[in-house]
Amino acid sequence: MYEELAIFELSIWLGLSAWIANATPVLGGGGRPIDGGRNFRDGHRILGNGKTVRGFIVGMVFGTLTGLGQFLATPYLRPILSMFVTITPEMDYVLSISIPVAFLMSLGALIGDLIGSFIKRRVNVKSGDSSPFLDQMGFIIMALIFAVPLMMPSPVFVMILILTTLGVHWLSNAAGYLLGLKKNPW
Ligand code: CTP
Ligand code: MG
Repeated sequence: MYEELAIFELSIWLGLSAWIANATPVLGGGGRPIDGGRNFRDGHRILGNGKTVRGFIVGMVFGTLTGLGQFLATPYLRPILSMFVTITPEMDYVLSISIPVAFLMSLGALIGDLIGSFIKRRVNVKSGDSSPFLDQMGFIIMALIFAVPLMMPSPVFVMILILTTLGVHWLSNAAGYLLGLKKNPW
């Protein structure tokens, strides 16, 4: 029971920098769009006004700072966790996230988000309109791929992180709908 809970918590721990990098650009959006306002050869914007240089930098800074916080917290969390479960090497590997890993995961999350926007513009989805798979999965999958040179967690953590990311999106959309901020609950 505690073991499952620990694996779940560690999966969230693994994804934290990518989530923060993905969620914070909205705080610093505005200013020059990354595509410089240019169109692709299909006549639509390359990325659109929703992807800005400032937003990208804000995501990198907050995502990497998340890694710094995790790095500083790990020595305190390890003994607390070990009161409930036997920390396996796989668990300790995920727990010991370093700042360079958080940097790579943030970069992957933000580039994954740009790739998602690029694809959305190619299939004629307007800036800000949602494309469920690309919006929810693109960033986390790219974050995990970017981390590979420094960190390859066991598949169970990766799978739970992907499912949790879907769940968080679903919950936040449902909450937005119930609060009257969104037209649809998805
Ligand atoms: N944002 C930004 N720069 C980024 C990513 C996001 O400035 N690299 C800001 C923008 O203000 C954007 C908001 O965060 O409108 C929400 O981000 P997101 O939902 O990813 O962008 P969308 O506006 O939905 O654009 P798209 O349709 O291209 O995904
Ligand atoms: Mg969006």
